[in-house]
Amino acid sequence: MPVINFIEFDGTEYSVDVAEGVSLMQGALDNMVDGIVAECGGCCVCCTCHCMIDPAWQETAGSANAEESELLDMLDSREDGSRLSCQVKVTPAMEGMVVRLPESQY
Ligand code: FES
Repeated sequence: MPVINFIEFDGTEYSVDVAEGVSLMQGALDNMVDGIVAECGGCCVCCTCHCMIDPAWQETAGSANAEESELLDMLDSREDGSRLSCQVKVTPAMEGMVVRLPESQY
C-alpha cells in the first residue's frame, strides 16, 4: 500500500497508507487528515478537496481533465500542481508522494 505524505498548511505532517485505486481524498478522510472537506463526497462538483501536489510528483499524479480544471479555476488558491484530491487515484508509483493542503479548507 503506497504511503502518501500529507502536509497541512501549518506544517503538520501525516504519513498514511492509501490502497491502490483509492482517491487521495478518501485516503485523507480515512486517516483523519485535516484539511480535506469533500462536501460532495468525491463527485467533482464542490472544490473542497483541493490539494497541491509537490512539484517532484506532479508528473506521477497527472494533470486535471477539463472538468476538474474548470472547478480549480474558481479557487483563488489555485497554483501549479493543484488538483481536486477526489480525482487523483493512488497508484504504486505514488509511494512517498508529498501532497500539501490549503489553509482555506480548515
Ligand atoms: S470532493 Fe467535491 S470536488 Fe472533490
